[in-house]
Formats: sequence, structure tokens, C-alpha cells
Amino acid sequence: MKRVHPLLIRITHWVNALAILVMVMSGWKIYNASPLFDFSFPNAITLGGWLGGALQWHFAAMWLSPSTA
Ligand code: HEM
Repeated sequence: MKRVHPLLIRITHWVNALAILVMVMSGWKIYNASPLFDFSFPNAITLGGWLGGALQWHFAAMWLSPSTA
């Protein structure tokens, strides 16, 4: 199959995809720690184990994410 995008674009695309996945999953865990809302995301689709762990994932993946580039 013919490759359309150059290697650098393909690598940064997947780094960004991973960063967004980690931001979303840790973001849901951070959200779950708040008592403000009745709804919470199932544990299986969150990342970090507890609020402190989720914040660390959130901050680590922040540096990889597209909006900080
Ligand atoms: C590029 C993407 C993102 C960046 C750079 C980012 C960055 C941050 C930062 C710096 C904080 C503050 C943490 C603190 O004060 O302790 C935060 C909090 C939070 N983030 Fe993100 N975040 C991103 C994406 C997301 C996503 C996708 C979600 C949800 C799916 C999310 C959910 C949350 C929640 C719920 C909080 C806590 C807000 C609060 O305490 O009022 N974030 N994020």
C-alpha cells in the first residue's frame, strides 16, 4: 500500500493519539474524584488508580499532547 504521509507526521500522529488517550482516561479519573456531580466514569476506562495518580498521568501526558506543542 502506498504511504501518503512522511515518517515524521506518522510518528507525531501516533504520539498525539497516545497523549490524548492518556489525557482523556486520567481526566475522567480526576473528574470522578469530585463530589459535585452524580455521574461518574467506570473505573475500567480511567487511568491512575486514585486522584493523585491520575493527576500525575495527566501532567505527564500534557507535555506530549498537541495543544502544548
Ligand atoms: C491537552 C489536553 C489537556 C491538558 C493540557 C490538561 C491540563 C490540565 C491541567 C493543568 C489541570 C489542572 C490540574 C490541577 O490543578 O491540579 C487539569 C485538570 C483537569 N482536567 Fe485536564 N487537561 C487536558 C485534557 C483533559 C481531558 C481530555 C479531560 C477529560 C476527559 C480533562 C479533565 C480534567 C479534569 C476533570 C480536571 C480537574 C478540573 C478541576 O479540578 O476543576 N483534561 N487538566
